[in-house]
Amino acid sequence: MAGSRAAAVVFLLLAASASLCTAVSVDYDGRALVIDGKRRVLVSGSIHYPRSTPDMWPDLIKKSKEGGLDIIETYVFWDMHEPVRGQYDFTERKDLVKFVKLVAEAGLYLHLRIGPYVCAEWNYGGFPLWLHFLPGIQLRTDNDVYKAEMQRFTAKIVGMMKQNNLYASQGGPIVLSQIENEYGNIDWQYGSSAKPYIDWAAQMATSMNTGVPWVMCQQNNAPDPMINTCNGFYCDQFTPNSPSKPKFWTELWSGWFSAWGNPVPYRPVEDVAFAAARFYQNNGTLLNYYMYHGGTNFARTSGGPFITTSYDYDSPIDEYGLLRQPKWGHLKDLHKAIKLCEEAMVSTVGNTTSLGQNLEVTVYRAESGECAAFLANFDWQLDATVTFNGNSYDLPAWSVSILPDCKNVVYNTAKVNAITALTKFVPQTSQSGSNSSVVSLSSWSWFKEPVGISLNKEAFVLPGLVEQINTTADKSDFLWYSLSIDLNANDPLLKEGSQILLHLDSVGHGLYAFVNGDLAGSGKGSSSNNKFSMDVPMNLEPGNNTIDLLCLTVGLSNYGAFFDTYTAGIGGPVQFKGLANGSTIDLSSQQWTYQVGLKGEQLGLSNGVSGQWDSQPALPKNTPLTWYKTTFSAPAGNSPVAIDFTGMGKGHAWVNGHGIGRYWPANVAPSNGNCADTCNYRGSYSNNKCLKGCGKPTQQQYHVPRSWLKPTGNTLVVLEEIGGDPTMISFATRELGLICGKVSENYPAPLDLWDSNYLTRVTKPTLLLECPSPSQVIKRLQFVSFGNPHGGCGGYTHGRCRSKRARRVIHRACTGKTKCSIDVTVENLGDPNCENVTKSLAVEAFCG
Ligand SMILES: *[C@@H]1O[C@H](CO)[C@@H](O)[C@H](O)[C@H]1NC(C)=O
Ligand SMILES: *[C@@H]1O[C@H](CO)[C@@H](O)[C@H](O)[C@H]1NC(C)=O
Ligand SMILES: *[C@@H]1O[C@H](CO)[C@@H](O)[C@H](O)[C@H]1NC(C)=O
Ligand SMILES: *[C@@H]1O[C@H](CO)[C@@H](O)[C@H](O)[C@H]1NC(C)=O
Ligand SMILES: *[C@@H]1O[C@H](CO)[C@@H](O)[C@H](O)[C@H]1NC(C)=O
Ligand SMILES: *[C@@H]1O[C@H](CO)[C@@H](O)[C@H](O)[C@H]1NC(C)=O
Ligand SMILES: *[C@@H]1O[C@H](CO)[C@@H](O)[C@H](O)[C@H]1NC(C)=O
Repeated sequence: MAGSRAAAVVFLLLAASASLCTAVSVDYDGRALVIDGKRRVLVSGSIHYPRSTPDMWPDLIKKSKEGGLDIIETYVFWDMHEPVRGQYDFTERKDLVKFVKLVAEAGLYLHLRIGPYVCAEWNYGGFPLWLHFLPGIQLRTDNDVYKAEMQRFTAKIVGMMKQNNLYASQGGPIVLSQIENEYGNIDWQYGSSAKPYIDWAAQMATSMNTGVPWVMCQQNNAPDPMINTCNGFYCDQFTPNSPSKPKFWTELWSGWFSAWGNPVPYRPVEDVAFAAARFYQNNGTLLNYYMYHGGTNFARTSGGPFITTSYDYDSPIDEYGLLRQPKWGHLKDLHKAIKLCEEAMVSTVGNTTSLGQNLEVTVYRAESGECAAFLANFDWQLDATVTFNGNSYDLPAWSVSILPDCKNVVYNTAKVNAITALTKFVPQTSQSGSNSSVVSLSSWSWFKEPVGISLNKEAFVLPGLVEQINTTADKSDFLWYSLSIDLNANDPLLKEGSQILLHLDSVGHGLYAFVNGDLAGSGKGSSSNNKFSMDVPMNLEPGNNTIDLLCLTVGLSNYGAFFDTYTAGIGGPVQFKGLANGSTIDLSSQQWTYQVGLKGEQLGLSNGVSGQWDSQPALPKNTPLTWYKTTFSAPAGNSPVAIDFTGMGKGHAWVNGHGIGRYWPANVAPSNGNCADTCNYRGSYSNNKCLKGCGKPTQQQYHVPRSWLKPTGNTLVVLEEIGGDPTMISFATRELGLICGKVSENYPAPLDLWDSNYLTRVTKPTLLLECPSPSQVIKRLQFVSFGNPHGGCGGYTHGRCRSKRARRVIHRACTGKTKCSIDVTVENLGDPNCENVTKSLAVEAFCG
């Protein structure tokens, strides 16, 4: 049996690499995706190409492959590709064909989720804003204007893929494709038009003859031949709408996105692995991690409103392209374990039997004799010992064990063999000097953005308050609403002793109120409520008074029925309150003067070349609406680079003309939030369960891709809205720090140690330590304990028992080596004499 399994593994490897060179058929049945006539158990991960740079793509794809993925999944971002109707752009980060070809070169498949509505926490859900202005259009429903546009763009993308032979049916990597996106979540709100629309979309997609299957996620009524799929934190209970469709999970949320002013969510890997294993246990054959690499919402691409610039998502590969360990490694081990079960899983369906309360076993037993089993304990608290096939297995609470031969446990979702590698930002001090690892910044120059209307040619006057998005068409975050009021000295508004307030009701997202040229108040909504009201104390004077209200958007909505019609700006009313006689004066229907965007935007200041910049007399600090510019040298080396915006309020930043994104360190998560250093992975996860960063800025560091930098002479331009001190801006590199491992004596041996005879080989629990880079060696052991150590990486402490010998053993095995392997046994490490306690080995080490 061992021999036949080894042969099967080799065979599958050959099949995977061969299939990309020649055309293969892709189909599905009730069990799986069928590629070249063979059912497959597959692992997929999302990488959105515009959320990184083409320079980063090969490494991200390589790390995905090493992590055990078969498929890379991406959405297609219509708004980037067709910024103006009929004018397409597929350059740089938008080079979809290049991305797909790189995936193919790596020997991986690709799932192309065209949408073209993609949600994705992306500005306007990926729709170009011009759609909104087409006469008669209604988005995502049975509307001819919309359907014609959707079909045209879908055909454009499919045509490009075909032209480049990128479908598997042409020898390319694309094995799956998606039309629409999560429409079933909200389709009831579109009434009787919803079903005809979804049927039309299915038929339209099918008519494109791509030669590969289409999916519709979260669409229970998806018509044949669309495969309806599941998105969520768990999808083991999902069933497709026909026995002839396989059970696919298009979005296993590996974490969650973050929003300005909120703490940052994360999801423990034990729970991600549990969710994935439960899915495969329950007949699932394809899942996709959303995200596998989240990346960055550069420039103005983030949706929301209030989605942060970072789209890290707590993914297995972090925003900067570094492995997030142990998440990446523990899932890699899971994928190996699942692949060992593939033959049995594709030959049959799972047979599930209860083994007690919240305990069950699923057996895949093929007629050929292949057998794989999953043992699950989905109790939130109680560990258990179960008996299966006459053998006894310990099953920690909220865990699944995988037995590729129905006998040996090769993996348990709660037992993490993978090492932890801490990542950190290493400050690169902003001084000039000879040390090449130090960033040198030249002195700052600035441009004071005028308050109020400054582009007289473009300003326009209208009675009443306009809606912001309709007015700006999202060409800018900014819209000025200006009013001037001439008061004579006897005006009741100037009456001694009364404090006049300007009352404003905004429908979102943010607002700065200037009175007679000075910032008098500001307001903002939040991701849970875009709307807000403000009462701004007025300092009115006899004569001409100006009220300049700068409204801003912070990423357009991307989710919900009719999200495309959500509004922003001053909804009204605008009133003076606080008059001596108690009445209010309404200003809403006055003749307001409007200006879309800022003068600095029109001057093209963001490229750092245009415009007249001041450099004297003195650098203005803490002044609202100020543009700043400097040049800097890049940090030496190859580590990813970040800008730390400590000291700044809110704004936009550009490096060498590339939009870094919105920055907003002044938006701080509440300190009384539900944050904790560790989070109990046991029990059902939700995006509010595990949070970090309470009392801190939601985002302080902002990714600057290496490929946007030159060694010296880089330009940084910053538009500060609220007021800040640019001399406090600093640079950092993203580095791997301490590595840690913790393995208990009841863990299965790491899958990396199983050879092709894995089923017959008896291996011991083992700690495999490895430096992040092959050029590094383990320099120093910070902590070693074999016994019952407590805490997490960087904070381990000894428990009540420990072996005296362990440190010496580890030192001999590991110091000076790039990697080392340590048997976690009493024979090897000495007896710590911990009565009745499961012993663990914990190690913290520095590489260098
Ligand atoms: C797996 O599929 C078989 C056949 O459709 C079915 O009988 C069984 O209940 C399924 N198991 C689960 C957990 O869905
Ligand atoms: C499922 O497993 C149970 C318990 O082992 C067994 O009695 C039953 O015959 C199996 N069912 C199928 C369809 O194999
Ligand atoms: C340069 O800076 C690095 C990092 O701060 C430091 O480790 C190194 O000693 C410095 N080298 C010199 C020559 O000052
Ligand atoms: C925005 O413009 C559209 C079409 O121009 C119009 O139908 C709609 O009523 C406007 N919405 C608002 C809130 O002004
Ligand atoms: C008041 O000031 C505004 C802005 O400076 C100007 O456009 C307007 O003409 C002035 N109105 C009067 C009555 O002086
Ligand atoms: C209060 O004073 C304002 C400003 O003079 C005036 O327009 C309004 O009519 C007064 N309201 C009442 C109830 O007297
Ligand atoms: C260990 O377990 C045994 C059996 O349950 C018990 O008799 C003994 O007291 C325990 N020892 C300690 C130190 O808890």
